[in-house]
Amino acid sequence: MATVTATVEEVLGASPVMPVLAFRSAEEAVEVSSVLYDCGVRVFEITLRHESALEAIKEVKVALPDDAIVGAGTVLSPDTAKLARNAGAVFGVSPGLTKELGSAVRAMGWAFLPGVSTISEAMSAMDMGFTALKFFPASVSGGPGFLKAAASVLPGIQFCPTGGISADTAHEYLALPNVPTVGGSWITPRVGDGTIDLAATRERATAALNF
Ligand code: 3PG
Repeated sequence: MATVTATVEEVLGASPVMPVLAFRSAEEAVEVSSVLYDCGVRVFEITLRHESALEAIKEVKVALPDDAIVGAGTVLSPDTAKLARNAGAVFGVSPGLTKELGSAVRAMGWAFLPGVSTISEAMSAMDMGFTALKFFPASVSGGPGFLKAAASVLPGIQFCPTGGISADTAHEYLALPNVPTVGGSWITPRVGDGTIDLAATRERATAALNF
C-alpha cells in the first residue's frame, strides 16, 4: 500500500521527474504505475481527466509499496479535491488557483501544488500560504528564463514546471536552484493503437531518474 501521507517537500524531493499520468482505465493505471515504480519512480501524478481516474488512484495506491507517493492532478475545484483525497491521493496538483480551491485545500491540510504562470499569480498563491507551486504551462510561459527571474524576487518559492517539457529540455529547468523536479507526460508515450508503450516508458523513466 502506497504512503498515506506526504508533505509538498516530500512530493517535490522524490525524484527529478514527476510523471503526469493521463490513464484511460484503472487497469492501465496499475500496469503502467507498476512499471514506473520498478524503474525507480516514487511520485505519481494521476490526472483527473478520465472517468476512471478516482478508481485508478485507489487501485494504484493498493498496488504500490509504501514508499510510493500517489497524488491527483488537474484538480480544478474543492469538490474534486475532496473526491481525490477520499480516493487516497496524498497530494494534489492544479493547473491554476482560485480562492475557493486554495481555501478548501488549506482547510483540508492537503499537500497541494497550485498552478501559476506569472509573478503576480505566484504572489497570490504565497498570500494563501503556498510555497511550492506548479509553473504551467512552462514552455510557453517563459520557460527556464521565467524561473531564473522568479528565483531573484521570490527566493522562498519552489517550482515544479510542467507543460511542454521533454527529455531534451528538462535539464535546463533542473539546473535552477528553485526547481527540484519537473513534471511531464513524455515519460509514458502512447502508440498508434492508443496503448502506452511500456518499453519506451521504461527507457524514458530510467533516463529521467538520472537527470
Ligand atoms: C499537465 O497536466 O501538467 C500537463 O498537461 C502536462 O504537460 P505535458 O503533457 O506537456 O507534459
